[in-house]
Amino acid sequence: MKINNRLKVIGDLVPLSSYPLDIGCDHALLSIYLVKEKGIKKAVASDNKSGPLEKASSNVNFYNVQDKVKLIKAEGLDSYCDGINTITISGMGGLSINKILENNKKYLRKINTIILSPNNYSIAVKRKLVKLGYHISNEILVKEKNIIYNIFVFEKGKRYYSRRKLFLGPILMNKKDSLTFEYYNILLKEKEHLLRLLPKHLNYKIRITKKEIKDLKIVLNK
Ligand SMILES: C[S@@+](CC[C@H](N)C(=O)[O-])C[C@H]1O[C@@H](n2cnc3c(N)ncnc32)[C@H](O)[C@@H]1O
Repeated sequence: MKINNRLKVIGDLVPLSSYPLDIGCDHALLSIYLVKEKGIKKAVASDNKSGPLEKASSNVNFYNVQDKVKLIKAEGLDSYCDGINTITISGMGGLSINKILENNKKYLRKINTIILSPNNYSIAVKRKLVKLGYHISNEILVKEKNIIYNIFVFEKGKRYYSRRKLFLGPILMNKKDSLTFEYYNILLKEKEHLLRLLPKHLNYKIRITKKEIKDLKIVLNK
């Protein structure tokens, strides 16, 4: 089936024995990929808007997986169904993702794996998930149409991360491939730009940004 590389990478990270819920499914192609190509028995795909769900329904019919992909119209984790143990959320802003998880924490008791690909605020997302009792078990970068996407796999279990480790990414910081360097270089430019814009009275933010610039220069050997 036709699916972009970013969604395929996310799909390939979903544990094969899981019952996954994709929040903000839009076209539902991720859930369809999971049941059609990965052998996952059943999946739930949800969205809080009718337009995307109509698209999802037409794709579910097209791929003939009506008995395997359940579509739900609901806000965030309100689409939780009994037995769900893995959540995926991608293509949404980091702060919206954090809000979705924070608003319905009670469902997280049953969730072992959370796979997230925020469009922005990825450091805030990592911080939130650690606070919610998850650790980072994988970090992958995918470049598509000249945009680099972060994909994080969080597994249940508390772990302590230093500020530096959480910022750089405990797994990413040990990768030496060209995409990782390209990503860190972009981050460095953004942080240097931010530092030039920060008003003088934001002492704490200035201090942290300077530390982040130093962290990036070290991993980039600059
Ligand atoms: C840009 S699309 C991303 C689609 C797909 N997940 C992907 O990565 O290609 C974001 C989708 O999230 C949905 N959405 C946004 N906020 C939501 C929320 N709080 N609960 C459920 N769905 C939401 C939108 O309606 C939209 O269909």
